[in-house]
Amino acid sequence: MPVLSSIRTEFLEQKPLSGKRISATLHVTKETAVLIETLIMGGADVFLTPSNPLSTDNDVAVALESSGVPVRAWRGMGEREYLEALDWAHSHDPNIIIDDGADSIVRAHVNGLADRRTVFGALEETTTGVVRVKALEAEARLRFPVIAVNEARTKNLFDNRYGTGQSTIDGIIRATSLMIAGKNIVICGYGLVGRGIAMRARGLGGRVIITEVSPLRALEATMEGYNVMQIQKAAEIGDLFITATGNKKVITPENILRMKGGAILANSGHFDVEVDVKGLYALATSIREIKQEVEELSLPNGRKVILLAHGRLVNLVCAEGHPPDVMDMSFSNQALCAKFIVKNRPQKVELMQVPQEIDDKVASLKLASMEIQIDKLSKEQEDYLNSWKV
Ligand code: NAI
Repeated sequence: MPVLSSIRTEFLEQKPLSGKRISATLHVTKETAVLIETLIMGGADVFLTPSNPLSTDNDVAVALESSGVPVRAWRGMGEREYLEALDWAHSHDPNIIIDDGADSIVRAHVNGLADRRTVFGALEETTTGVVRVKALEAEARLRFPVIAVNEARTKNLFDNRYGTGQSTIDGIIRATSLMIAGKNIVICGYGLVGRGIAMRARGLGGRVIITEVSPLRALEATMEGYNVMQIQKAAEIGDLFITATGNKKVITPENILRMKGGAILANSGHFDVEVDVKGLYALATSIREIKQEVEELSLPNGRKVILLAHGRLVNLVCAEGHPPDVMDMSFSNQALCAKFIVKNRPQKVELMQVPQEIDDKVASLKLASMEIQIDKLSKEQEDYLNSWKV
């Protein structure tokens, strides 16, 4: 993670987060550990909790804890323990909340943290979290500024697309040893995540089918050469189904009853609601755990389907999440936005975009770390681009 390493050097020298408390709610992975250490080197006290009950790498949690970082995370924690961990982090009156999915931000609005007015601002890592913060803002219930880190171009163009594209396929292959070539791969949602998965599934020889609700996105997928159809029809021909919509009940029990025997269901959206998992469990006549996080469910029609990761993020539960290369950019945005909040103390309570100079800095540092040089505009070209004259 060379970009984050260079920010780490800057943080060690400048201590921009000196004396500040940060509550970080993130998937507890090795890449997250590098971010947490960077924030600490910047002078912060960091309290770490997971952003999903199944995504914690226990080795990482233990390693951080044994190096003195307060962590409350373990793989498989229950719903109550998950919320208690958030309350524990919030009991330290954080100045900054780093979040992935907005559970921590929303919790701060109900557990009294927002009322204590210690929070300078929050940073949101993913699309679903940004959607939830927008909804809080629309109802005039947002109590502190939030930076939509997900919306940085150096985050979502790379993390959501290439990161999730690769790690989703990685998780599915680790869990099932599935040969992608020649299979019908149904991807629900053609946003940045969906198109990353589609790109990689096609690269492995899969016949990709897209389902969408947005006419524009459906048209883009069609022009890209994918088959686009309704889920009810796709259900009949798919071998592997991957949801990536940020929406709920995208695959219903009714759809599942139409699937071929042996169909595999996986989700890469933030919450475990995209495949109607509760409906599926209720429908199943029996459930057999083939191996950890891989369940075979028998249906009343005599067929069997396979559910991965209990419908939770397959790339984090069945694999290790995104490669460090891509988290380097996402977490550099996080670190620099934390510094921005402390330095600028934004007073307007709103959902803010990542400052352009941060996005540009991350892109430039990443290119430099890859030893890629690009051209510069000449003065004449700059003038030309700013002029209406030919
Ligand atoms: P996006 O908003 O760009 O795309 C979502 C797409 O799903 C949209 O085109 C929307 O029209 C479509 N959609 C909504 N309801 C649908 C339905 N019922 N059927 C078919 N399509 C539907 O969002 P993005 O950035 O692609 O993220 C998708 C999800 O993935 C979010 O929950 C996000 O938080 C999560 N995410 C997960 C990551 C991971 O590591 N697994 C990494 C980054 C994001």
